[in-house]
Amino acid sequence: MKEKLRVLVGLLPILLLLLADPTFSRRHSRRGTETLEEWQRHALEKIELLAREGGLPEEERKGITKFDKDVCYEKGCLDAALEFMTSVNFTVDPCKKETWMNFVCSRRVKGPDNINQVERLAKVADVQIQEILDGVLGAKELKDDFLFKEAQTYYHQCKNKADNDKEDVKNVLKFLSKCYGNWPILTGEDPGELFSWSNMVADINNIERYGFTPLIFKISMPNEFEGPHIVLSIGQTSFGTINSNDLKNFFQRVHKTAQLTEPYRHEQIEQMLYFQNSLNQVSISESPVEDLSLEKLQAKTDEFFAAENIEPSFNWVEFFQKVLSRTDIKVTQETKIKLPFQTVMNVLMQLDMSDPIALANVLNFQLASVLLQESTSLLDDMNAFKCTEETGPRETICLERTKQIFGYSLGKSFIKMTFNEAESRPFIEDLMSKIKQGYIDVISENEWMADTTKDFLKDKIKSMVTHIAQPNWLKEGGIESLKKFYEKLEASADKNSSYPINFLKVNSWMVDKKRAYAWDMSKRTDYKNYSFYDSEWSRYLGTVQAQYHKGINQVRIDAGIIQSPLFNLKAPGFMNYGGLGTVLGHEIGHSFDQQGRTFDKNGIEGEYWDPKSKAEYRKWVLDLAWKYGEEVHYITENLSNSIDPMKTIDDDIADVLGVHIGFLSYKEYLKALEADGKREKILPGMKSFAPQKLFYMKYANMWCDDKDIQDKYNDLLSDHSPGNTRATMPLLLSNEFAETFGCPKRS
Ligand SMILES: *[C@@H]1O[C@H](CO)[C@@H](O)[C@H](O)[C@H]1NC(C)=O
Ligand SMILES: *[C@@H]1O[C@H](CO)[C@@H](O)[C@H](O)[C@H]1NC(C)=O
Ligand SMILES: *[C@@H]1O[C@H](CO)[C@@H](O)[C@H](O)[C@H]1NC(C)=O
Ligand SMILES: *[C@@H]1O[C@H](CO)[C@@H](O)[C@H](O)[C@H]1NC(C)=O
Ligand SMILES: [Zn+2]
Repeated sequence: MKEKLRVLVGLLPILLLLLADPTFSRRHSRRGTETLEEWQRHALEKIELLAREGGLPEEERKGITKFDKDVCYEKGCLDAALEFMTSVNFTVDPCKKETWMNFVCSRRVKGPDNINQVERLAKVADVQIQEILDGVLGAKELKDDFLFKEAQTYYHQCKNKADNDKEDVKNVLKFLSKCYGNWPILTGEDPGELFSWSNMVADINNIERYGFTPLIFKISMPNEFEGPHIVLSIGQTSFGTINSNDLKNFFQRVHKTAQLTEPYRHEQIEQMLYFQNSLNQVSISESPVEDLSLEKLQAKTDEFFAAENIEPSFNWVEFFQKVLSRTDIKVTQETKIKLPFQTVMNVLMQLDMSDPIALANVLNFQLASVLLQESTSLLDDMNAFKCTEETGPRETICLERTKQIFGYSLGKSFIKMTFNEAESRPFIEDLMSKIKQGYIDVISENEWMADTTKDFLKDKIKSMVTHIAQPNWLKEGGIESLKKFYEKLEASADKNSSYPINFLKVNSWMVDKKRAYAWDMSKRTDYKNYSFYDSEWSRYLGTVQAQYHKGINQVRIDAGIIQSPLFNLKAPGFMNYGGLGTVLGHEIGHSFDQQGRTFDKNGIEGEYWDPKSKAEYRKWVLDLAWKYGEEVHYITENLSNSIDPMKTIDDDIADVLGVHIGFLSYKEYLKALEADGKREKILPGMKSFAPQKLFYMKYANMWCDDKDIQDKYNDLLSDHSPGNTRATMPLLLSNEFAETFGCPKRS
């Protein structure tokens, strides 16, 4: 499942506002005291009102506000009752395919809460982290957390770009002159001793920003399966759409904003453009890529330089060491480099012939313009720079960046605020083991599967590893492991510090981290001890998502999704099994989809099934796809469309299995309760609803929606079935569902 979160601040439904009210969670009901506190009475009145609207028969409704020793009045129960009373239309027949949605949730989704609960939760989780970063939420609890102030500072500076243009421009100029010598066009001086174009190119290669390509050379790392090597390609050789007027404009603005006294040398602009042009000429058609050891590359380069009578030759080891200096990657004579050798030589020759003034001007210009674009409004209205800006609200861009960069540290703070490690983890571990057992039972009882295939699948389910909320290294290693992960990050904790400089430091740490990670991945020869988290250089732990990775047979549940209304430790079992439980059942179901089934417990692809089982599986899948393909999806009252079931089938398989097995696990949960001498909690007004019914109703409530035309249309293009199909089809195909609601069986 990849329930992509779309970041928007929407109207929070009343329900979630209620859940977030801290005064509610602090006080618990005193069960058995036969008195209800005010907040409980208040909630019950609301429940009764909604029940009346939803047509709950009077005899079931009238007792709602009176104390009943069988009924649960804890907050988790009242919230659950509120959720159902907001959604269900009790006058509608749940058995009919056409009316199930009307029964279970039309009332709720016809209002402002028209998207499904997972999408809603994604928005809520973004508001949570935004409030945490803004210091509105958890200010006291989190203030001493590792890197917390740094994350807040980065987010604050990023979204308040252009707060102090004058200071920022000055700081950028100061930084450039300190590190790279004089910027000739602005100072009227030669670049000086400090200037080295290759050092500057190396540093520019530590910047990653939307639409940005470094000048002259671009360094990149290998893809996962390519083996360790460094890729050197020709970088940006022209200014693209930036013309002499733009340059003039740029320098005038910088000059004015930084209040420089020395007049700027506008005559050097032509020289900059001329330089770009000649660089472009020699690199316009790239020579074939060669694969050389660093030693070989150096020898070939020396040879080339000697033939051209250029001295000294270019020192590649130094260059690559500079680029990778803050990573653990060791650059040696054996390091492999892939590059268009001949073109690179032509570029080096061109640089040798160029005026250092022009070279210093263009390199300073590129570095300055990317920092100023990021931190000031100086270039915002210049068309030439517009195509290198991300679209979308600045707050969203900054939030996403902060979440990514501070993924583990900020994620840890998020977990502190939202996840009950001591109680929720054991509950979810138990939930997961019940679901796994459900899969094993279903496999054992399957009628068409050969024993060898059954054994293969059961073994795979048993060895599946689950990560809950955070990676093991972080859970076990704690703050020390976090410090190690962020060892080389030099982020500022002072909101008044210079943003462009902080951006540069944080950004280059990120680039280093990505490179080190790519290098590691490319060296990997097996996936032993490999964890879900190793497949990303960073991971924000508060994401609203759960995933299955077939290549390593692992499940991950991020902390964002372990929240109400999908999971609540204090809620009755049907809420958690129908909610998060079916999500986890869905994820495990992916190990059984058309692709997932071809991987073994170690993630190695192959055909492990016997031919007969495989043929029967195919039949089952085609039958399922046919049923999903029959569904008619209304975009408007008079406009309908069907989906391509072969596109959604893998997720449909996971849905069908997730609900089926989630239900079996819930029944096991009920048995375990009973064995313990306990029973499932009863919701006010819902005494006549068996917990099994509420399981299915919760499941449907999680996915149903009432979207507008555009969103409905987009959903039809996704590789998941639309929400309402997810809320309906797995139930209509289920005998247990029909039995539970006393509906006539469908075949
Ligand atoms: C419940 O369903 C009935 C029958 O479709 C409908 O007439 C009624 O308006 C619905 N009630 C609510 C509150 O939506
Ligand atoms: C940051 O700047 C503001 C406004 O200039 C000032 O009030 C505040 O004291 C400064 N904070 C620090 C930590 O220097
Ligand atoms: C995997 O982890 C175990 C225990 O931590 C260790 O002994 C083993 O060497 C590791 N294997 C690989 C391939 O890293
Ligand atoms: C749908 O079609 C019916 C019958 O042709 C028509 O009365 C109705 O206005 C149409 N609805 C919309 C929204 O176009
Ligand atoms: Zn899925």
